[in-house]
Amino acid sequence: MNKKLKGKVAIVTGSGANIGEACVKALAAEGASVVVADINREGAERVAAEINDSGGRALAGYVDLLDEKSVETLVAASLEHFGRIDILHNNAADTRPAQMAADASITELDGSVWDAAFAVNARGTMLMTKHCLPAMIAAGGGSIINTSSGVSILGDIFTPAYSASKGAVNSFTRNTATQFGKQNIRCNAVLPGLILTDLSRSMVPEDQLAMLEKHTLLPRLGNPNDIARTVVFLASDDASFITGQLFAVDGGISTHQPFVGDVLASMV
Ligand SMILES: NC(=O)c1ccc[n+]([C@@H]2O[C@H](COP(=O)([O-])OP(=O)(O)OC[C@H]3O[C@@H](n4cnc5c(N)ncnc54)[C@H](O)[C@@H]3O)[C@@H](O)[C@H]2O)c1
Repeated sequence: MNKKLKGKVAIVTGSGANIGEACVKALAAEGASVVVADINREGAERVAAEINDSGGRALAGYVDLLDEKSVETLVAASLEHFGRIDILHNNAADTRPAQMAADASITELDGSVWDAAFAVNARGTMLMTKHCLPAMIAAGGGSIINTSSGVSILGDIFTPAYSASKGAVNSFTRNTATQFGKQNIRCNAVLPGLILTDLSRSMVPEDQLAMLEKHTLLPRLGNPNDIARTVVFLASDDASFITGQLFAVDGGISTHQPFVGDVLASMV
């Protein structure tokens, strides 16, 4: 079978579990050599071993996105191991339960919670992009995919700092696409809706999951492979004329009048 990403090298941050794991495995399954980058060493090593055991090529890489030196070390190790970088997926985010719980009422929001959200989600994305771009340009171009969120464009009553940090990711996506388009660098963002993972199941109560499903146009909530398939598409030459775009992957929850789910429910 002709694999879409044969000969390409991809780095995926936060790929030691959940959505990032699905994405890095999907990129590897399409023939890319992958760097499984995470602050979670154990997770990165497990995922890289699983890819290698199933015939792919993976390197586990420790990175702490709060630390620019750590980012530089990861990028250097990736280049030393695989010789080039073609694809960067900025997937990592600060989703620690304590951080998400403290990211609540705006009138009580501590500045440190705001800073923590921006430090990983926005500044971490910037640092990875900054340090990968020279190698990507040297390789003749490449694709950067930033994971944002539906709450970057839709108002919500929860997580104002997380939402604003993802808004910064959207803006940085367009800046990257604009500054480096002529060097054949494409940069797009994926905006997931609620994606069912162990983490989101533990954080979102069952009754709220049911509400989300009711307001989703399609008859189910999302799963990590929905994001992974979009990332593979954006990484591949199938998307070679697509840049600077924000793609909602959310079953249509962001596309309609807010009362549609209630009207549909009243009609059954
Ligand atoms: N799950 C959802 O419903 C959902 C919805 C919208 C957007 N997203 C986004 O999708 C992405 C993946 O989310 P997930 O649900 O798989 O959550 P997750 O917590 O499993 O993934 C985040 C990853 O980032 C890593 N990370 C955190 N801080 C880091 C740091 N300082 N340095 C390096 N790595 C670090 C974590 O170890 C983890 O592996 C995130 O960007 C998240 O904001 C998720």
